[in-house]
Amino acid sequence: MTNKDVFTFYNGVTIPRIGFGTWQIPNEEAYAAVTMALKNGYTHIDTAHAYHNEENVGKAIRDFGIAREEVFVTSKLPAQVKDFDGALQHFEETMSNLGLDYLDLYLIHAPWPWDEIGKDCTEGNIQVWKAMEQLYDEGRIRAIGVSNFAIKDLQAILDNCDIVPMANQIPFYIGRDQTGLLAFCKSHNIVVEAYSPLATGAILDSTEIKQMAEKYGVTPAQLSIRYCLEKDTLPLPKSTHEARIIENAQLDFTISPEDVAILDALKDVRAK
Ligand code: A2P
Repeated sequence: MTNKDVFTFYNGVTIPRIGFGTWQIPNEEAYAAVTMALKNGYTHIDTAHAYHNEENVGKAIRDFGIAREEVFVTSKLPAQVKDFDGALQHFEETMSNLGLDYLDLYLIHAPWPWDEIGKDCTEGNIQVWKAMEQLYDEGRIRAIGVSNFAIKDLQAILDNCDIVPMANQIPFYIGRDQTGLLAFCKSHNIVVEAYSPLATGAILDSTEIKQMAEKYGVTPAQLSIRYCLEKDTLPLPKSTHEARIIENAQLDFTISPEDVAILDALKDVRAK
């Protein structure tokens, strides 16, 4: 994987084909983890206000000395914020936490608050999307998108707003069938980002995945992350260990279409 491997949003902005995920990395560990990722060639870092690590993610990026335009930074609007002014205010907080003067990608973290999963927040999502559109039009953000959005949530934005989301970041890994959502996103030129490409580690003990990884001479983690690329999604693996951070970006192999089909058919591979 090189820095030149990118997805291109429909507005022409490019995003590196693999990103470093920082969900579940506490603020105290985020500085070291992001520094290790940058040192080992990652140029795309994904965080969120809700991860409570934006401060050290931003500090690591600033201290590393990489030119701002050489690193792609994503953050997310907290899921419970569903009003226009609240969205603008939280964006300013995120920028102040990160210590950066623009963001590459800003996402609505979820269509509903995490303690009310499934609640219909259509009107709120439209309001916050309008705030994101304003920030985008002002040049504060290079691309805007959503996360954890189902087809109906996306459709509400398409029906009521001006800008089509450029990305939808969803949980995606071997055994998690997202076929309908992937096809819908593709038909609207929405790049799908895969968070938890290892199912937070739970698929790595799967016998089927282990056996196929052996066949390709790679690790189960590499096979699982490469699978996301084969499905045209952008994986965001996360690790706090340098050897794994390096391993997770070494994806210069391809999985045959036959083997992708076998992986597509795997169910219940979560070992834990
Ligand atoms: P750690 O941070 O201790 O390395 P996901 O990206 O699906 O959220 O998965 C993250 C989980 O998988 C973390 O627990 C992480 O542990 C673990 N992990 C990340 N990369 C690897 C790897 N290459 N081999 C084994 N476990 C990994």
